Amino acid sequence: MELRANSITVTDHDGNPVEVDGYHVDREDREDSTADKGGYDHFMLKEIAEQPRAVADTLLGRVLADGRLNLDEARPALEELHTVEKIVIIACGTSHHAGLIARYAIEHWCRLPCEVEVAGEFRYRDSILDRRTLVIAISQSGESTDTLMAVRHARAQGAKVLAICNVEGSPIPRESDGVLYTYAGPEVGVAATKTFLTQLTMCYLIGLYLAQTREPKSADKIDSVIAQLAAIPEKVEEVLGALDPVRESARSLADAGTVLFLGRHVGYPVALEGALKLKELAYMHAEAFAACEFRHGPIALLEEGLPVVVMVPSPKGHSVLHDRVVSTIQEVRARGARTIVIAEEGDESVRPHSDVLIEIPAVSPLLQPIVSTIPLQMFAYELALAKGNDVDRPRNLTKSVTGE
Ligand code: M6R
Repeated sequence: MELRANSITVTDHDGNPVEVDGYHVDREDREDSTADKGGYDHFMLKEIAEQPRAVADTLLGRVLADGRLNLDEARPALEELHTVEKIVIIACGTSHHAGLIARYAIEHWCRLPCEVEVAGEFRYRDSILDRRTLVIAISQSGESTDTLMAVRHARAQGAKVLAICNVEGSPIPRESDGVLYTYAGPEVGVAATKTFLTQLTMCYLIGLYLAQTREPKSADKIDSVIAQLAAIPEKVEEVLGALDPVRESARSLADAGTVLFLGRHVGYPVALEGALKLKELAYMHAEAFAACEFRHGPIALLEEGLPVVVMVPSPKGHSVLHDRVVSTIQEVRARGARTIVIAEEGDESVRPHSDVLIEIPAVSPLLQPIVSTIPLQMFAYELALAKGNDVDRPRNLTKSVTGE
């Protein structure tokens, strides 16, 4: 499999790969990813490392050379997009976190109401769906029972269901009206890593596609986000090359009892994902909060040395939220907690308040989760190792949760 830096592949109108700045992955290379450790100590580490290619594979064939998006393969669900009045995303666990992030993007780019619900709850509620509702079911395995049942429930109410899935021919895509595969390759580690990044990529593609189709935002703005998304595998690679501080910091926290995660806007679901990874892999008590909620109760948890991981919004993209999060970091630190701060490179305002500063490349603010999640994956991996846990097969968990 060949992955060349500094170029990406988009397709021309005839479906031929065209190389532009970013990454190049040939179409036939998609099948190469094998389920062996390939020299890595663990599948999880390999799968974290594979993320630039996995994301490039999700983009492949879907971003055309002229910047338009091609999601025709998802027909017939997408054929009726102009009639869509509401989007409902259903998913479980990490896939649910991808949905929470997608909501910010879809509502902002498309001006369409978007609800996100854990699939297991969705079908026990009298959700209001009709044929103008597009339900997006996100599932890497395509066989989570809760999501499958929610798909059946949505279709029975007359909604169209579009699946985002990594496993071809699995039950959820089979029972949906349309499917978009993520093409992340096999993921063996029980903790979802590359499938999460590719789900995010697919959600962004759908949001941008809807925006292009419905044109509620200026075309320029959407074109610029598409160009940034097309080049994001390179940013993912950049993050992978700068994970030493996060690994070191994780190793020093093996004796911590609790870790808190804070974020705002798209950083909030990223914080949720960071906490979930830590629970799954390191068996530690980890909780995530929207930073704005912190003073409404959770701040009472703060004590000397408590590790608090904070996702900082982009200072340029979200200056107001950025400044509020910086104040929260100051407040947290003033109470003796240990701050592990994930912030955009060049954001010097956070440095004085960070015990550990992890820098991530600047990207369009709504795309930030693609780069900001990676340090959290590595944080959980390293802590799990430090505790002597089986990172690929954490206790009590299975790769897909079937049965209720
Ligand atoms: O296969 P799915 O995406 O439907 O699975 C959903 C969850 O069970 C899954 O994301 C779970 O939370 C993972 N263990 C997360 O690492």
